[in-house]
Amino acid sequence: MNDIQHPALRPDRIGDLHLANRLAVSPMTRVSAAADGTPTSEMADYYTAFARGGFSLVLTEGTYTDTRYSQGYANQPGIVTDGHEAAWRDITSRVHDAGAPMILQLMHAGALSQGNRYRDDTAAPSAVQPRGQKMPEYGGHGPWRTPRAMSQDDLDQVVHGFVTSAVRARRAGFDGVEVHGANGYLVDQFLTDYTNQRGDRYGGTVANRVRLAAEIVSAIRAEVGPRFCVGIRLSQGKVNDFTHRWAGGSRDAEIIFAALAEAGASYLHIASEGRDWVETATLDGQVTITGLARKVTGLPVLANGGMHDPARAAMVLQDGHADVLALGRGALANPDFPRRLAQGLPLADFDHRMLQPMATLSNARLWRPAAGVPA
Ligand SMILES: Cc1cc2nc3c(=O)[nH]c(=O)nc-3n(C[C@H](O)[C@H](O)[C@H](O)COP(=O)(O)O)c2cc1C
Repeated sequence: MNDIQHPALRPDRIGDLHLANRLAVSPMTRVSAAADGTPTSEMADYYTAFARGGFSLVLTEGTYTDTRYSQGYANQPGIVTDGHEAAWRDITSRVHDAGAPMILQLMHAGALSQGNRYRDDTAAPSAVQPRGQKMPEYGGHGPWRTPRAMSQDDLDQVVHGFVTSAVRARRAGFDGVEVHGANGYLVDQFLTDYTNQRGDRYGGTVANRVRLAAEIVSAIRAEVGPRFCVGIRLSQGKVNDFTHRWAGGSRDAEIIFAALAEAGASYLHIASEGRDWVETATLDGQVTITGLARKVTGLPVLANGGMHDPARAAMVLQDGHADVLALGRGALANPDFPRRLAQGLPLADFDHRMLQPMATLSNARLWRPAAGVPA
């Protein structure tokens, strides 16, 4: 294929947001903020490099939304204080100067919190101990704590945290927010049958289990108005359960997607946690999860999972499975991936050692000379 013609290089839009191409940076936690959650100038350099490298959209790492139960890791950034907001403003301004819009991912860790400076206990839909173990790359080890089941008051405070954080994000210069509804964190814990054992209107049927996600999106939408971009990320797999799939397949997916479109989402971002899109995309052996999301909602859909393979990326776009591609590991290995694709330059392979022993920016910097990669 002539890479100049690659379909990922064609422009697009998400609502009012103009995208120079179809290549977005996927959200990636780097546990490199100050201890109080303030983003750093090192983070500004990191995000700006993607914009300089030609990515048309930069999604941030998951950022916590309140001073209660939302924080997931030590050194995770927050968007809950004036200091956080001011530091993010410096970052958005640099990324904008380098030519890309930027979206803040809003994250509540729920039961999958392994570091919260505001408290030691965790809270989630139900008192179910999470599967698997805490994640060493984000500073955790050993089994997860069993969370406390959230009350209605807790849920009101969760929604309030997302809304006030979205307002702060807009003030900080972000072009939109993305609700983290994927990968096993709080919103996904509500969606998931085995972590949600509630008997109230947030538990039981899929329509009930997606209610919290829809309430968060619609509460943000009501506050920020119709034009500000409010996306949501979903996935079947989880950081602590890669093989989980929605029990009702495409029937569940249709209910979930329709509820979120109805709530006012600007786009849906479908992640493939722990697996490539190819492995997680097909529902009921027929439709792709991203293609179905497009069809049900009519909204722009971001696909994720192994999209750094140019042939796969072309297929996903050309066959109508998605509008935009989010690159995680491929962007870490090639912060200038779009430029390389446009110029037909070779692409570097992702080396997991750049995230070891923890996924910090300083470890990635130390890895570069050892791996022979220019600083
Ligand atoms: C170091 C690292 C941190 C991640 N942190 C987040 C995160 O904060 N929020 C999120 O939604 N996904 C997170 N992910 C998942 C990625 O966004 C992406 O879904 C995953 O890497 C698969 O895409 P890829 O094949 O392009 O790498 C993270 C992935 C990596 C490698």
